[in-house]
Amino acid sequence: MSLNRRAFVLGGHITPFIGKNHPDFVWKRHPDFGTRENPGLEDYITTAVQGALAATDTPAALVDKAWIGNFVGELFSSQGHLGAAVVGAHPDLLYKPVMRVEGACASGGLAFASALEAIQAGSDVTLVAGAEVQTTASARTGGDYLARASHYKRQRPLDDFTFPALFARRIKAYSEAHGLTEADLAHVSVKAYANANKNPLAHMKAVEMTFERAAGTEGNPKFLSNAEVRDYLKVSDCSQVSDGGAALILVSEAGLAKLGKTPADAIEVLGLGHATGNLFTDGDPLTMATTETAAAQAYAQAGVAADAVQVAEVHDCFTITELLMMEALGFSQPGESAAQVADGRTALAGALPINTGGGLVGFGHPVGATGVKQILEIYRQMKGQCGDYQVGRSLELGLTANMGGDDKTAVVGVFANR
Ligand code: CAA
Repeated sequence: MSLNRRAFVLGGHITPFIGKNHPDFVWKRHPDFGTRENPGLEDYITTAVQGALAATDTPAALVDKAWIGNFVGELFSSQGHLGAAVVGAHPDLLYKPVMRVEGACASGGLAFASALEAIQAGSDVTLVAGAEVQTTASARTGGDYLARASHYKRQRPLDDFTFPALFARRIKAYSEAHGLTEADLAHVSVKAYANANKNPLAHMKAVEMTFERAAGTEGNPKFLSNAEVRDYLKVSDCSQVSDGGAALILVSEAGLAKLGKTPADAIEVLGLGHATGNLFTDGDPLTMATTETAAAQAYAQAGVAADAVQVAEVHDCFTITELLMMEALGFSQPGESAAQVADGRTALAGALPINTGGGLVGFGHPVGATGVKQILEIYRQMKGQCGDYQVGRSLELGLTANMGGDDKTAVVGVFANR
């Protein structure tokens, strides 16, 4: 069933995603240490919201409702109640209805889904933000915070780095079932870093990842303690612990008119799927059934099949996740995704470019911002705004897949540029 009311993404703003290994990230050996601080959650929310309003010529007074995706502001920044933080970004947002949405790493996608429902219910101009700061704690403490997206009581003991361990378990299962090698995963990582090296906003814009480094362990340790899975995952397979924010404007046809815009200024939402798995049970490690379900809904609503997609942003919290996503989204048959990455099909110049700005591995993964950033990346690719990593042909159909936990919350969107 198609949407009752047409909905359009008008663009928005992505802040730089930064953290360890980014040249601007202040840490104890940075020359600015002691004289400059890294931006905080408040800064990312403010910059993203103000940037989105400015980029789309949207007067804040015309915003009907707003949402913000954030996972654990309370833990990394001792700050919750972030709907009210969005209001702090502009005086004309005062007393608007704003709400924070949480679904682990899919918080941004859920914020977008909420805005789309509001458009269906009669809103005309909505604001969708996402932000996370994670560098206020060590990677190990952060691993414990992020483990709240798993079933903490049962899965936290797997490893101090619970999520890396959960996905190492998937790598192990996939290797046993399909003969996946370290070289296969290295191709995914090398593509992510190569794309990020072309993207000025990317966390890993200045870090080179050679195939030799990604396929080996020199400067690329296997860091898990869990003996059963430690051999399967290296640092190069992981998304980054990043800080950042993103915000976009989603409008109805009437909203376009109110802002003096036309569909040509925007991309249209053709379909959005949202599915949720059971937190308390393990799924099949070889598939992403929740994402597959959300994708089926999105394709059905959009009236398109997987082979119509021309560019995609998929949730690559780990290299294996990108491969499993490709299979869940119908881009590859089970066990065949790695070969498609290795032969360049998903590279910038390939037939189906995936994660063109570097994905979560290269662009970075400030959890609550990720789902919003993915939609903006598709907008920017379809509108030719990606600079050095612009795909060199016109793009009419794009897809985003944002995922929370170990495939427990999934939001998949299909977008058209016409
Ligand atoms: N040899 C052996 N071990 C080493 C090592 C070496 N040369 N270098 C580091 N290590 C080990 C150490 O045990 C170290 O821990 P301690 O320093 O506390 O002993 C550990 O690796 C981490 O080292 P660093 O602190 O130097 O790590 P880092 O800052 O470079 O971070 C990373 C690397 C741990 C992989 C980090 O980037 C990371 O945790 N990434 C994943 C983030 C993540 O899980 N995000 C969530 C994704 S899941 C999702 O998206 C869904 C959801 O809903 C949550």
